[in-house]
Amino acid sequence: MRVVSGIQPSGPTHLGNYLGAIEQFLDLQTAAAEALYFIADLHALTTVHDGQRLHAASLSLAADLVALGLDPERVALFRQSDIPEVPALAWLLATVTPVGLLERGHAYKDKLARGLSGSAGLLTYPVLMAADILLYDADAVPVGADQQQHLEIAREIGTKLNRKLGALLVKPPRALVKPAVAIVPGLDGTKMSKSYGNTLDLFADEAELRRRIMGIQTDSTPVEAPKPLGSPLLALLELLSSPEEAEEHRRSWSAGGVGYAAYKHRLADRLVERFSAARAQRRRLSERPELLESSLRRGAERARAIAREVWGRVSTAAGIGSPPAFG
Ligand code: ADP
Ligand code: TRP
Repeated sequence: MRVVSGIQPSGPTHLGNYLGAIEQFLDLQTAAAEALYFIADLHALTTVHDGQRLHAASLSLAADLVALGLDPERVALFRQSDIPEVPALAWLLATVTPVGLLERGHAYKDKLARGLSGSAGLLTYPVLMAADILLYDADAVPVGADQQQHLEIAREIGTKLNRKLGALLVKPPRALVKPAVAIVPGLDGTKMSKSYGNTLDLFADEAELRRRIMGIQTDSTPVEAPKPLGSPLLALLELLSSPEEAEEHRRSWSAGGVGYAAYKHRLADRLVERFSAARAQRRRLSERPELLESSLRRGAERARAIAREVWGRVSTAAGIGSPPAFG
């Protein structure tokens, strides 16, 4: 089985990225799978317009992934922008994509509602993502539940391309989503996302993490009273607890007797404990950026060998001649 997935280097790696996507990446690298994971820097261009910052963020995301346990010897870890066939395929896919399909995208509508600029890049984001997904003949794409609609759009675009060109040129893969995790809530209760300023960043300074957790909005329910359901505090604590502990948290939450501050301290402790080894490894890696750069280069060579083959097949069928000569 071959899997492919990407994460945007648009901000620090957070708990939602880890539980929704990265944990699956780690599970799949030990299963009998060929895995391709990339830093989606072309996608990050829709929100980051500062070259130095984007370059640093890409390297930082690579360090985060390796510190969390991704092994660049076993998987191909690379920058999306090192594969010139990605934007080439995205253009071809754009020519078969109905604008209405993109206008119905949840992520697009959410971002507009939050005041992000409605650039053509934001609208066509799922087309670029379809190119990432279709370029490697992958069987499956491990992602968080928030990306399921993008996966459906990618499958639909792939099917349209095959139909228009009259051959099975690209293979639409399926989404792999961990149902127990679904969508990790942010500190404000909406989806945790780098775009929404509501994240728990895995590699933030410990004091900063504790400060953010203590700042989660709670109401004035007294310590001894049952707490109202629907708080991100309980949801986050459950996600970081063993099943038995989670059960106990749910019980005391509904029974009363434990104050919000105590839950917040527990959440902070769990988070720091769970990622302490990765945080130490991350500090060591940040002293060796040249090692990460060489892993990314090797990863790109491996991914590109597949990309060339698929793009060669598709571009020939489209009648646009040879694959890109650059790169
Ligand atoms: P962000 O939304 O913070 O910009 P990305 O879009 O780069 O994060 O997402 C990278 C991966 O992390 C995707 O597979 C996505 O589904 C997953 N992910 C992001 N946020 C969450 C969340 N809150 N819950 C579950 N998975 C998430
Ligand atoms: N759009 C994804 C996100 O925001 C990141 C991404 C880009 C991706 N290309 C991809 C994920 C291809 C899976 C497959 O989370």
